[in-house]
This record gives sequence, structure tokens and C-alpha cells, in this order.
Amino acid sequence: VVYAIIVNKYYHLSSDYEPDDLATISTKYSWGTLGSQKVRQEAYDAYIEMHQAAQAEANIYLMVNSSYRKYSDQERVYNELTKAYGPNYDVAKPGFSEHQTGLVVDIAAGSTSTFKNSKEAKWIMQNAHKYGFIFRYSSDKIKITGYNEPAHFRYVGDIAKEIYEKNITFE
Ligand code: DAL
Ligand code: ZN
Repeated sequence: VVYAIIVNKYYHLSSDYEPDDLATISTKYSWGTLGSQKVRQEAYDAYIEMHQAAQAEANIYLMVNSSYRKYSDQERVYNELTKAYGPNYDVAKPGFSEHQTGLVVDIAAGSTSTFKNSKEAKWIMQNAHKYGFIFRYSSDKIKITGYNEPAHFRYVGDIAKEIYEKNITFE
């Protein structure tokens, strides 16, 4: 399946948009208490496959740091982060976050404190497309997306390979 829903600085979701097939991510694959991390079912199935491949091929454990955020969650995150770091911090306004689609996982590095330059980052950059995910906010695409965020991966389904091979953005 192709999940082509686009949410960015220009296209937003209504405050009551909620996917109807959210699955709870096991604590085997995510940080936080059980029930705190969710993604849509097909993205979850693909994520588990990717997690297992990373473990088998590179002996790394991809863990989800952040995933589905409903509108009010994003509102809280936005208010907290802009209060702490100022209005230009890389956080989307409520309604404008891809996290509300239920198709996003932010990945944590298990072995180092920063994801960027970690073994996990290296592996997932090269392999995410095989599982339907794209690296969404590459630093060289910042003019289009507006964000530079190494850990944010978006499930798009069958078009991931084409986006990866052409080195284009989702936009
Ligand atoms: N940090 C990303 C851009 C978000 O808030 O959706
Ligand atoms: Zn994110």
C-alpha cells in the first residue's frame, strides 16, 4: 500500500484527525511505558521486520523514541519546546506535525547518546526504504522540508524505494 498523506509546514491535519488502525508498539521495540508509543498497523508490521533485520545484519537494536502524537500531544510538545528553546526550535505547530499521521517513528541510538553518527543511523539510512520508510528531514533538503532532524523516519509504503533511489524528498 502507498501512504501518500502529506503533512508539512504548509499542509496540515484537522485537530480531530486520528488514524483508526493505531497499534501499540511493544516495549521490546520502544522506550517509555507500554501504550505510550503507537503507529498505524502496516507501519508497525514493517517496523518489526526492519528491527529484526537490523539485529540480524548489524547486531543493533532500533528503538522508537517518539511515534504517534495526537493534536493535543503536539500542542503540549510545541508549547514546552518553544518555551524552552525559542520560537525557531525544530518542532511543528499542532496540526502541522507528521507525527499526527501515525506513520512516523523517531529512532533512538542504543549505543551512543546521539543518533546522528551512530551505528543505528548508518544502518537505517541505507536500509529503511526496503521496509517502506524514508529518512524525512535530511540536512540537504532543509530548503524544502524546513527541518533538519536525523532520527525521524516516515512510513510511505511502496514508494519508499523510488524516493530513496532518486534521492528526492517526499514533497
Ligand atoms: N519535530 C517534528 C518536525 C515535529 O514536531 O513533527
Ligand atoms: Zn519526529
